[in-house]
Amino acid sequence: MNQNIIPCKTDRIKSWDHIYARDLLRWGINPSVTAKLAMIDIPKESKCLLDVGCGYGRDAINFTEKLNNLIVYGIDSSIKAVTLYNEQLDSRPRVKIRCSDIFKGLPNEFPKKFDVIFSNYFFHLFNNNECVKILNLLCSVMSKKSLFLSSFVSNKDRHFGKGKKLDYSLYEVQKGVPWLFFNEKMILTLFAQSNLEIIRMNHFTELESRRSEPDRVDAFYVIAKIKIDY
Ligand SMILES: C[S@@+](CC[C@H](N)C(=O)[O-])C[C@H]1O[C@@H](n2cnc3c(N)ncnc32)[C@H](O)[C@@H]1O
Repeated sequence: MNQNIIPCKTDRIKSWDHIYARDLLRWGINPSVTAKLAMIDIPKESKCLLDVGCGYGRDAINFTEKLNNLIVYGIDSSIKAVTLYNEQLDSRPRVKIRCSDIFKGLPNEFPKKFDVIFSNYFFHLFNNNECVKILNLLCSVMSKKSLFLSSFVSNKDRHFGKGKKLDYSLYEVQKGVPWLFFNEKMILTLFAQSNLEIIRMNHFTELESRRSEPDRVDAFYVIAKIKIDY
């Protein structure tokens, strides 16, 4: 992969600041479909969940409203997203959202291990090598009992093939924001390069609310755990 043709990380972060500055709470405050699916799989006794690329915290908030013992820790590299949470949705005692780039690790104040790792529409923003790095970083904050629950935008999505082609299945759909569109084989290959093993993978289609308009998204929902021999 030619690293020079994909927008650098700083530009990608700035692009998200522009998106949130323009659209504010762009997906509303209801939970994502991924969060609703995850709610079925999250063990009721879970105490701490990490939401990676949590945006302004719509899923984080909804998790704590449904699960009484859960504290949700979220990170997002967009200062605008975190400011939106602080200014419009804050004062939730069991939600802690901080501005941080996943590649720089988690804030020191966060727990060293999480019961659940969650992310919605996050991994498609990176190339395969970056996804492997992220998965292995997340493994380091999981125990053998932890669950990993995440969506991965699929190549059935209507945005597939839109914008400048950067690499195999990777397109600059929005300015400064590359999208990697996954098929089943790509997900299996990605996880094979990590310390996670897939427990279940389903394809789903949702009508996400974006700027109050229905927006169709096609994605995989993946549930995984640490490999037994790790
Ligand atoms: C498609 S949005 C999804 C937001 C949220 N999960 C939701 O469903 O409402 C992807 C999010 O990932 C964040 N993000 C992108 N790169 C990141 C990075 N390196 N570290 C942390 N967050 C990042 C973006 O700022 C953006 O808020």
